[in-house]
Amino acid sequence: MGRIVLWISPLLWALSTLTTPAAADSGGVIIVVPPVSTDTGIKQIPDAAHPYVAPGPGDQRGPCPGLNTLANHGYLPHNGIASFEQIVNATREGFNMEHDLAGALAGFAMLARGNAFLDLVSIGGTSSLIPVLPGAIDGPNPPGGISKHGRFEGDVSMTRQDAAIGDNVNFQNSLYDELLLYTGRFGDDSPITGNGSIVTTKVMQEFKYARFLEDQVQNKALQYHVGRLTLSYGEAAFVLNFFANGTDGTLSQQTMGSFFRNQTFPANWHRRSTPGSTVGFRPLGMAQGTGTKKEHCGGPVGHLGTWGQRMVHQDERNLNKKYIL
Ligand SMILES: *[C@@H]1O[C@H](CO)[C@@H](O)[C@H](O)[C@H]1NC(C)=O
Ligand SMILES: *[C@@H]1O[C@H](CO)[C@@H](O)[C@H](O)[C@H]1NC(C)=O
Ligand SMILES: *[C@@H]1O[C@H](CO)[C@@H](O)[C@H](O)[C@H]1NC(C)=O
Ligand SMILES: *[C@@H]1O[C@H](CO)[C@@H](O)[C@H](O)[C@H]1NC(C)=O
Repeated sequence: MGRIVLWISPLLWALSTLTTPAAADSGGVIIVVPPVSTDTGIKQIPDAAHPYVAPGPGDQRGPCPGLNTLANHGYLPHNGIASFEQIVNATREGFNMEHDLAGALAGFAMLARGNAFLDLVSIGGTSSLIPVLPGAIDGPNPPGGISKHGRFEGDVSMTRQDAAIGDNVNFQNSLYDELLLYTGRFGDDSPITGNGSIVTTKVMQEFKYARFLEDQVQNKALQYHVGRLTLSYGEAAFVLNFFANGTDGTLSQQTMGSFFRNQTFPANWHRRSTPGSTVGFRPLGMAQGTGTKKEHCGGPVGHLGTWGQRMVHQDERNLNKKYIL
């Protein structure tokens, strides 16, 4: 990944110099890829140097509870405006995210919704600190930050509403209550945190599939194509793999609540004991569920969506030949 980013950033830089010859001399920032760290063991997070500080009115916060938490504790800049290197470092320090995965996500966020020329992306919305790209190569408006719907942020999220029908940036109690319902119903028991309190893969499978069906009915502009399906199940896998207490790898409903509701690390929490990569997360395996549910993509009920139309004839496993691949 480091290599890909190293290739992409000079490319963008070269592109920007073509469009506006003066740009290269006027404050472009070279993106730094930090070395792979050896500090990747279990540790208690936060440390004393990173207490929770609530965001102020000017601080950017967005749809990702993990990034919001890192900014609230100062692992990311408190104003929510970060460089590629800061994101890679912070996601490792706070969550033990593996170097290449962190680089891929930070790179995607930067290219899709940030200003790669200045090496800055907002973990929330548009910021006066992040101007339009040189030559306005991504349109006349400043980059939207990861809150802006359509590239990084997408439909059928767990705790944010679809952009077309509600608030796609801030935590939604009603959706979270639904997740708690599925946790109570399908979660594991714990003598410490209670029966039905441990969030499992099964919980996420059932909840995500229910959210998809729900949004198919409610959102006439639903976009749930293969790319979004992968990312959105990836998010569920992230919650299980990065929010769990590193000491035993389990994620209690109470711990999950601290990240989602309060955007703070729970007391006495430990980051995972090994670097977390996509290997082993199997987001698509999660989408396939227990075998009773097939992969599901598409648009609103009765519509295949652009991607669905292309793929439906290639796959005879359609459940109803209508909207499920
Ligand atoms: C990122 O971490 C590396 C050590 O792994 C350190 O040398 C570097 O200064 C850090 N960068 C930032 C922006 O904090
Ligand atoms: C929790 O579940 C166990 C079985 O796993 C059961 O024996 C116990 O009574 C349950 N506790 C409560 C409070 O429901
Ligand atoms: C969130 O913070 C409030 C105030 O500190 C606390 O009472 C509540 O228990 C916290 N909720 C979770 C889920 O951690
Ligand atoms: C994490 O696990 C340790 C060891 O079992 C426990 O002492 C601690 O309370 C747990 N933390 C949370 C947030 O569950």
